[in-house]
Amino acid sequence: MSPDTPRIVVTRALPPAALEPLHTVGDVWVSPHDRPLSVEELHEAVRGAAAVVSMLNDRVDDAVLAAAGPDLRVVANTAVGYDNLDVPAITGRGVLATNTPGVLVDATADLTIALLLAVTRRVAEGDRLVRSGAAWSWDVSFMLGSGLQGKQLGIVGMGSIGRAVARRAAAFGMDVVHHNRRPVDIGGSRQLALDELLETSDVVSLHCPLTPETRHLIDAAALHRMKRGAYLVNTARGPIVDESALAAALHDGTIAGAGLDVYEDEPRVHEGLRDLDNAVLAPHLGSATVETRTRMAELAVENVVAVLTGKDAVTPIAV
Ligand code: DGY
Repeated sequence: MSPDTPRIVVTRALPPAALEPLHTVGDVWVSPHDRPLSVEELHEAVRGAAAVVSMLNDRVDDAVLAAAGPDLRVVANTAVGYDNLDVPAITGRGVLATNTPGVLVDATADLTIALLLAVTRRVAEGDRLVRSGAAWSWDVSFMLGSGLQGKQLGIVGMGSIGRAVARRAAAFGMDVVHHNRRPVDIGGSRQLALDELLETSDVVSLHCPLTPETRHLIDAAALHRMKRGAYLVNTARGPIVDESALAAALHDGTIAGAGLDVYEDEPRVHEGLRDLDNAVLAPHLGSATVETRTRMAELAVENVVAVLTGKDAVTPIAV
């Protein structure tokens, strides 16, 4: 390739077939590591890049942009959430930022329901019990959980994932209400103020983006507003919940249980959560299906190819 060939950096090994189109527009470097790049490795890798395909655990800040230098034209995040990108710094340098909305809606909604069922029906706790070899037998009052039918699900953040969760919850016979920053009119769901949603819902499920406004949206006060028998599900972003306050609320019975896929300081998980039977903890699996991860990689690649060939990005992050 000529020295003018754009350098494309992919920070994690994505499905090779999905990366194929990149080879037609540039010189592609794919991280050989099966782990996130360290900050130093990321700075080194992006040097001279025209495009960076980033993952949600790559922090793309001004230092990374400076390390990349003036050739950088696009940062294509392989995630719908983009709280790992310093978008003002990126756009301030005239670089485009893109994400992968839409393609992970169903996978994330499915995992939300999986966590909801796991925590309300004590599936993980039961699994641990059986594996432990402890004595157990069927009994009328053995390991009773909580049914979903006729219960109220409160969705915080009624974007495409929130709506997909609402559709699934309706099939379980739940009544759906929602809270959204901008009021949205969704058939079959009533918009409520956040406090009313917290006070009346049997399950609260979070689907809003992480922004300065939503950081610790669910803090000790919010948890105390929830019903004592209520459950919290978070498949959005960890820092939306104050994890210490949540651990305390689960411990003292302020709420009944939580299903979590994301954590405040991933991959670290608050110690107070790890030994609680009423917390089901998944390791950020929301979009983790072969089909979805392939589609996410393809969309990130489509964005890079579009920008490097002078076309409009497919899914630019609106600024
Ligand atoms: C996203 O795309 O933001 C998801 O969290 C990935 O699993």
